[in-house]
Amino acid sequence: SRIQKKLVIDHQRVASYAFCFDIDGVIVKGPETIPEAKTALKMLNGDNPYNIKVPYIFVTNGGGRSEKARCQDLSKRLNVPVAQNQVIQGHTPMKDLINVFKTVLVVGGVGNDCRNVALEYGFEDVVTPLDIMKWNPSVTPYHTLTEQELKFAEDRDFNNVKIDAILVFADSRNWAADQQIILELLLSRNGYMGTASDTFDQGPGLFFAHSDFVWATNYKLSRYGMGALQVSIAALYREHTGKELKVTRFGKPQRGTFRYTSKVLTNWRKDVLEEHVDNTDSPFISDISDEDEDDYFSTSDTDDEPLTVQALSGKLKLDIPPASTVYFVGDTPESDIRFANSHDASWFSILVKTGVYQNGTVPRYQPKHTCENVLEAVQFAIEREH
Ligand code: G3P
Ligand code: MG
Repeated sequence: SRIQKKLVIDHQRVASYAFCFDIDGVIVKGPETIPEAKTALKMLNGDNPYNIKVPYIFVTNGGGRSEKARCQDLSKRLNVPVAQNQVIQGHTPMKDLINVFKTVLVVGGVGNDCRNVALEYGFEDVVTPLDIMKWNPSVTPYHTLTEQELKFAEDRDFNNVKIDAILVFADSRNWAADQQIILELLLSRNGYMGTASDTFDQGPGLFFAHSDFVWATNYKLSRYGMGALQVSIAALYREHTGKELKVTRFGKPQRGTFRYTSKVLTNWRKDVLEEHVDNTDSPFISDISDEDEDDYFSTSDTDDEPLTVQALSGKLKLDIPPASTVYFVGDTPESDIRFANSHDASWFSILVKTGVYQNGTVPRYQPKHTCENVLEAVQFAIEREH
């Protein structure tokens, strides 16, 4: 017979609300881990007065390493297990471009880290500015490749390489050389180095993993980020062509990133719920009334067969109600607070003072609440919910 079951939330054990954390300036500051972050995540993992587990994920504009490497780093820093599908980086949604472009120039980060991430995502052909500088050192007259950089560079003859897109994955470590190469390609004929278009509109598309003008490191003042590089490239392009540069932006506060984040959060909440479901008489599974019939169904040989969610999930279109509230904790009003305030009324933005935002100034985007740090933010939200 058709058994109709769905995952419901047992409010005693797993919260109906959830958290989303920015990383730089909230959880870490450059190489340092913000001390309150460990306690905050332990609370969400159940160490709180209500013994409730609160699902959470991380959404950072940062990048330059694989999501796997990033979650391993977070697990080590925070003493809590962080899974790969709990972490979204600025370039993560760029996976959607793997079948759109054949040869991509990936810019930013250290050595071949970004090339390797792009190849892991499935991009067919990935080149870097180091490859171009190795092919013809006179492309960037003020920078000679170091021994280390030569090791990362691959041999290509760029007279025959058509670059279909430029993807800025992470912060550039060499603004002069990277901008020289990016501008040459933007002004090129069909993405070939050494060519010049007279209409300036035949070059490859330019995609940025985010647009943070500044970000918080362990220096006392914020540092320029990828958004500042965009300003510089646009100024050079305008000066050279008299035209405004068109780019495609990923990362917070973009709507596309929000949609991607919502999907990842829903899947993660489902994973957390399924961990707590061990048999059909679990409060997590209840019969579905008829009108839900189209949404959730499964079949099984007999009614009395003990069905675990694992057994069901293979067949059941498992779905869960949306989070009652998603608390988003960030340090940068222009990206984090704008992101949390702009796309869904169930998101509750919390600004912390441990990163870009400076206490006493008026944030450009108003958070629903402001806290000293991430632990205060978690304590505030849990008390607000119970
Ligand atoms: O390069 C990343 C930096 O701009 C901000 O990262 O984690 O605060 O979004 P995050
Ligand atoms: Mg931040």
